[in-house]
Amino acid sequence: MYPAYLEESIHLVEDTRVRRLIETLPRLDEEEKLDLLHQYHPDYISASMRKLQVGINKGDSAPRELADLLEGNSRVDPDRIDPSKPDYNVDVLVIGGGGAGASAALLAQEAGARVLVTTKLRLGDANTVGAQAGTQAADRPNDSPALHYLDTMGGGHFENIPELVEVLVRDAPSAVQWLEKLGVNWDKDPDGSMHELSGGGTSRRRLHSARDYTGLEEMRVLRDELRNRKISYLEFAPALELILDDRRQIAGAVLVNLETQELIVVRARAVILATGGIGRLHIQGFPTTNHYGATADGLVLAYRAGAELIFIDTMQYHPTGAVYPLQILGQLVTEKVRTLGAQLVNSNGEQFVMPLEPRDIVTAAIIRECRENQRGLRTPGGEVGVWLDSPMIDILRGEGTINRELPAMVRQFRRFNIDITKEPILVYPTLHYQNGGIKIDVNGATNVPGLFAAGECTGGVHGRNRLIGNSTLELFVFGRRAGRAAAQYAREVKRGSPTLDHVRRWQKELERSGLARERPLSPRLLPDYIRHTHGRTRLEI
Ligand code: FUM
Repeated sequence: MYPAYLEESIHLVEDTRVRRLIETLPRLDEEEKLDLLHQYHPDYISASMRKLQVGINKGDSAPRELADLLEGNSRVDPDRIDPSKPDYNVDVLVIGGGGAGASAALLAQEAGARVLVTTKLRLGDANTVGAQAGTQAADRPNDSPALHYLDTMGGGHFENIPELVEVLVRDAPSAVQWLEKLGVNWDKDPDGSMHELSGGGTSRRRLHSARDYTGLEEMRVLRDELRNRKISYLEFAPALELILDDRRQIAGAVLVNLETQELIVVRARAVILATGGIGRLHIQGFPTTNHYGATADGLVLAYRAGAELIFIDTMQYHPTGAVYPLQILGQLVTEKVRTLGAQLVNSNGEQFVMPLEPRDIVTAAIIRECRENQRGLRTPGGEVGVWLDSPMIDILRGEGTINRELPAMVRQFRRFNIDITKEPILVYPTLHYQNGGIKIDVNGATNVPGLFAAGECTGGVHGRNRLIGNSTLELFVFGRRAGRAAAQYAREVKRGSPTLDHVRRWQKELERSGLARERPLSPRLLPDYIRHTHGRTRLEI
């Protein structure tokens, strides 16, 4: 239930609805978009970034919160660990138990590798399960991978790595079929064909969904498959450091048992990083859609082992995070709400941006509306937001559409006595995704021999802005490719002696640069909420 003054504002939204139903705002041209981004998108606030002072990406800009961790001190003392005495000895170690990690593990095992998966929390505790709207794949007669490619490149401002986009869109239809064979219940039309919607920046309907809990459904199936195939996995055992060998190839990882704090040494011929996102670093104090473990661990481990990072200065702020009620601050209000027809409306009851512009544009427009134009609405908790006019959907598409297409959304708000079929939703941008990450080739290989990566911890596929439904797709396409390639690498590699010398070298570099005392221990592993006074938008981590 909204407080009385917000209910009054809702009357204005209702009064302007009929007029808005036939109003179509034009798309912005390229110059207008760039201008909007430069003025209002959080990526362009230069004071929020700083240049890295050590490591292979020295001189590159990164958000301060991430830069501190990338330049962090190791949590392990190399003199107290013997990497030649492993607790586990496998061909492929997969670090991360979300969609990318599970896909990689399945394909590595199929290729004959002995696989161990390790995950920080429980298997499937990952951003994958929070993905709502769907997975893109061009599989309709009026669509093609080429159109999907163009949309993806356009969304990323043509800075994406073309080879990565090419395999993303080419592999997409087979990835969707693979998931269906494993048991994903895709939404279907009455004739049995896929029920597909479009999204921001997409020119065709190619989003495959399971209502608005698509990632949960995908992860359900992958997790079952992993268990059915008896692939070994450790839970509550995040990685603290990678192990290299004297040939500077990957040789395993040091994990920690979060319950007992005991260290675990894994010897592996190949390692796949699939550690996911970064949202729990709350860049610039933004709330986040991300799961609790999203603290950039994979980037930290890879960087310290010498892997190159790319586009680490660009984050995705999803335009529509919940701002009311406070209990769900920052949680995802799926883009599917706009796909189905809901408009964004300011405190005057006016639309101010075409709702299906790419995400970075919509985000910048909402920030401008609230900050510059003072046409946002303030909540009792002091947050600011604009209306997302969800009741339009049933008017446009017939009563019952919202309940059918968005059951998770309906339920999320009903818990707080807000009926989104009758009342709009108050939203503001929320930290959703890291566009950049570990640099990979088309098979997930990094520049460190034997180190592979897949999913949100990688960069290059999405350029400077990801489109809806390309993140879950990326998990399956690059997870599968990395799994296969790592298994093959593991068969062929000539191993050296395992060592933690790269950690010693790293600590020396920090000392030389005068950073060792200033920087925190990393990877962070869990968000540090203890020091927070509010736990709200202005988090200080
Ligand atoms: O809005 C959403 O449901 C998010 C989808 C995505 O990030 O791809």
